[in-house]
Amino acid sequence: MLELRGLSKAFGGIQAVVDFSARLEKNRITGLIGPNGSGKTTLFNLITGFIKLDRGEVFFKKEKIDGLLPHEIASRGLVRTFQLSRVFPRMTVLENLLLAPQGQMGEKLWALGLKRERVRDEENRNLKKALSLIEKIGLLPLKDEFAENLSYGQQKLLEMARLFMANPEMILLDEPTAGINPLMIRKIMDFILTMREMGKTFFIIEHNMDVIIECCDWVFVLDHGEKISEGTPEEIQNDPRVIEAYLGT
Ligand SMILES: Nc1ncnc2c1ncn2[C@@H]1O[C@H](COP(=O)(O)OP(=O)(O)OP(=O)(O)O)[C@@H](O)[C@H]1O
Ligand SMILES: [Mg+2]
Repeated sequence: MLELRGLSKAFGGIQAVVDFSARLEKNRITGLIGPNGSGKTTLFNLITGFIKLDRGEVFFKKEKIDGLLPHEIASRGLVRTFQLSRVFPRMTVLENLLLAPQGQMGEKLWALGLKRERVRDEENRNLKKALSLIEKIGLLPLKDEFAENLSYGQQKLLEMARLFMANPEMILLDEPTAGINPLMIRKIMDFILTMREMGKTFFIIEHNMDVIIECCDWVFVLDHGEKISEGTPEEIQNDPRVIEAYLGT
């Protein structure tokens, strides 16, 4: 689904990502781990077009996407979250989702000539989809609550659910469980696993090894921008290079 060929990026003198190559399979949950500052977020920024590559190529569903703008990449079905949560605090849970879909017919000029019913149908479909996502994340009783009144974990869930309004195929999550209590971590994992059941593909930056072990089919390990290991969660846990990278920092 996603192929990375020799991705490299330096910031001044710092090699943030060094010649990173990988293939990520469809319908899998792939993990990305590594010590702080090892280049994980930079790798996501390179894949999703938020920063420019120094070198390398990115293929999504066999099409070259490096050089495209973030919204162009998103509209092809590859979306991401950010390390810090970004919900709209002064909007309700439901409004947060309804604001998300891209290319809504009602917003397009050419739609003005179309029958009103078609626009209304689309709105109804979006409403149904939003409510079904809100139900999946367990926030139906809070659908009319302002997002700012949710717990941090609930906001993370909402942010993640919002991504699915645009029907993405592949989702990049940057530390989805960081700073979240165990109960909410469970809910976030369940949501990810449910969406995978529905055919979605994930690439997840994650520090929590319990999450990695339960959710990930395959894991890449970064250290100082370089891929030092890859394998199943069990394999990388027992890899001396990985243990050294973590103990050495
Ligand atoms: N925009 C930038 N300008 C300059 N240096 C940057 C920039 N973004 C990242 N870096 C540097 O690149 C390196 C990798 O950073 P990155 O944020 O990708 O690491 P990370 O693995 O996501 O770390 P963390 O686990 O703390 O989130 C670090 O040395 C960081 O200081
Ligand atoms: Mg990061």
